[in-house]
Amino acid sequence: MLEIRKIYHYYGSAKALEEVNLQVDEKALDAVIGPNGAGKTTLLRVISGLEEPDRGKVIFLGERIDELEPHEIAKKGIAHCPERRKLFYDLSVLENLKMGSFALKDKKKFKELLDFVYETFPRLKERKKQRAGTLSGGEQQMLALARAIMSDPKLLLLDEPSLGLAPKVKAQIFEAIKKIRDEGTTTLLVEQDAVLALNVADYIHVLEEGKIEMRGTKEELVKEPRIKQVYLGI
Ligand SMILES: Nc1ncnc2c1ncn2[C@@H]1O[C@H](COP(=O)(O)OP(=O)(O)O)[C@@H](O)[C@H]1O
Ligand SMILES: [Mg+2]
Repeated sequence: MLEIRKIYHYYGSAKALEEVNLQVDEKALDAVIGPNGAGKTTLLRVISGLEEPDRGKVIFLGERIDELEPHEIAKKGIAHCPERRKLFYDLSVLENLKMGSFALKDKKKFKELLDFVYETFPRLKERKKQRAGTLSGGEQQMLALARAIMSDPKLLLLDEPSLGLAPKVKAQIFEAIKKIRDEGTTTLLVEQDAVLALNVADYIHVLEEGKIEMRGTKEELVKEPRIKQVYLGI
């Protein structure tokens, strides 16, 4: 469904991505793990058109998208949940969800998605009239995820959804991510917390200093001495 071919990206003369190849199959939940500064955010920004790659191609559903504008890429069905949540803090929870689905034509679909979101995040249903800015960090992350789902995406890009959250809240967010996957939404998740990522993803790509250094299923990666030592601390 998504194919990244030999992507290079530089900030000035500093290399952020080097010959990155990556493929995500339809309905899969893939994760990119790697330390701070590895290029994870840059990779997602390249996919959603916020950064133009210096070399390489991004192909989505058989079509090249790396020269399109971010709004055109969004229209093709890619939703990007950025690292800092970027909600409409003065609007209510429900208004934020409506903003997520502004491009949806189908009223019935809107209702379906809203039901799914409220079922997945009961907390958001209880607080639907509350201003987003007054939610806790975990609730804001839930809202960011929910808002992305409200656009009915074909591909969901998640940038460190657990960042700065307490372990219990992290677990709730990851339960929701699993549920989204079970509904059939293809997801590419970027995550510093390797343990969480390995537990949830079908396939994991290890990005270090802008390069994919390793990839595999959880079962394959946990056997690698380097993964054990660097990412799992065992
Ligand atoms: N806007 C920018 N300008 C210059 N350098 C940047 C910018 N954004 C990121 N970088 C650099 O690119 C590298 C990759 O960053 P990033 O993609 O944010 O990594 P990660 O998300 O894995 O922490 C880092 O060395 C970072 O300092
Ligand atoms: Mg990042």
